Amino acid sequence: MIRIPGLIDVHVHLRDPGQTEKEDFFTGSLAALAGGFTTILDMPNNKTPITTIEALKEKQRIASEKIVCDVGFYFGSLGENLEDFKVVQDKVMGLKIYLNQTTGNYIIDEKVFKKICEAWPKGKPILLHAEADVIEQMIEIAEQAEQRIHICHISSETEFQTIIKAKNKGYKVTCGVTPHHLFLTQDDEKKLGPFGMMKPSLKSKKDVDFIWKNLNYVDVIESDHAPHTIEEKNSDKPPFGVPGLETTLPLLLTTVSENKLSINRMIELCYENPKKIFKVKTDENTFVEIDEKEEYIIDNKKLFTKCGWSPFAGRKVKGRVKKVFIRGRKVFENDKLLVGPGFGKYVTSTLL
Ligand code: DOR
Ligand code: ZN
Repeated sequence: MIRIPGLIDVHVHLRDPGQTEKEDFFTGSLAALAGGFTTILDMPNNKTPITTIEALKEKQRIASEKIVCDVGFYFGSLGENLEDFKVVQDKVMGLKIYLNQTTGNYIIDEKVFKKICEAWPKGKPILLHAEADVIEQMIEIAEQAEQRIHICHISSETEFQTIIKAKNKGYKVTCGVTPHHLFLTQDDEKKLGPFGMMKPSLKSKKDVDFIWKNLNYVDVIESDHAPHTIEEKNSDKPPFGVPGLETTLPLLLTTVSENKLSINRMIELCYENPKKIFKVKTDENTFVEIDEKEEYIIDNKKLFTKCGWSPFAGRKVKGRVKKVFIRGRKVFENDKLLVGPGFGKYVTSTLL
C-alpha cells in the first residue's frame, strides 16, 4: 500500500447544469474519488456557457448540494463580459478561452483574445484551447499583455515544440497533456470509432513518443474528462470528448510499475504543479491509499461516470485506489462512497 496526496485534476467537464444526462456533479465528483482525485476544476462550456455572474452563482449553488469531492470553476468569455472579470476573480480558478472548434459554440478570434488578455486581472491563469499553428500567436499576445497562460491538452510534436521554445525564452506559459494523448494514437481511433474522437484529435505514434520523451517540459496531466452518452456517440454526429477521471491514475501507476515514470514525477504532474499553477488550497489530511500491486481490467460496468464507457475499457492496469480521505474523513473505500452529496467544498484559489 502506498499513500499519495489527493490528486488535482485541473480540467474536467461535469456537464451540470444543462446536460446532466451525460454527467452531473454527484456522478462526476464520485468518479473523481474513484480515480484518486480529491479536487477537480470544472470547465465553463456548459449548455448555457458560464460567462455571466448569474450562471456562475447558479452552478456554484447546484454543485454545493451534490459534490462529494472539492470542485473549483473556471469562468468563460466570448469577449462580451470583460466588466465582470473583476467581480468573478475571487470566485474562480482562472479563465478558459477557446480558439478552436470543440463542444459548444464557444470560439473567439485573436483580436478578441487580445482584448480579453488586457481586461483579465493579472494573477490567475488564462487557459487556452488552442491547437496547431494558433498556439504561437496566442502565446505572443498573452506575453505582451503579461498574462500567465496555460495551454490545455497539447497533442502534437509541433504544438509541443512551440511551447518548449516559449518556455526556453522564459515566457509565463505552462502546458497540460491528457492521458488519451499519452496512451492512445490514431490507430486506436480507427478501432474506437466515435469513442476515440475528441478535440484535439489523437495523433501519430511519433507525436506520442515525442511527448513522452520531453515530458520534463509538461507541467500537468489533465484528464479533460468529457463524458457523452453512448447513444450520442453512436449517432450520425458524435460529439467530441472522452471520459478520463477514473482511468488517469491507474494508467499512470501502470507506467510507474514499468519504470517509465517515477512516482514522484507523477505526483508532481497531478498534484504539486496543479497546486502551484492554479493556487489550489490543499490539506495534509487529504490523501489516497493505493495498492500499487493490484492488477485489474478497466471495465465499463464498474465505472461511476454516468456515461458508462471508457476508451480504455479492456485494458489491464496495475495500481488501484483503495481508500480516499478528505480533511481526515474517509470518503471512499473499496468502491464504496462513505459520504453524502454536498460533502465536497467549492474551492477558490488564493490570489498571487
Ligand atoms: O473533446 C473535447 N470535448 N474537447 C474539448 O475541448 C471539449 C470537450 C467537451 O466538452 O466535450
Ligand atoms: Zn476540455
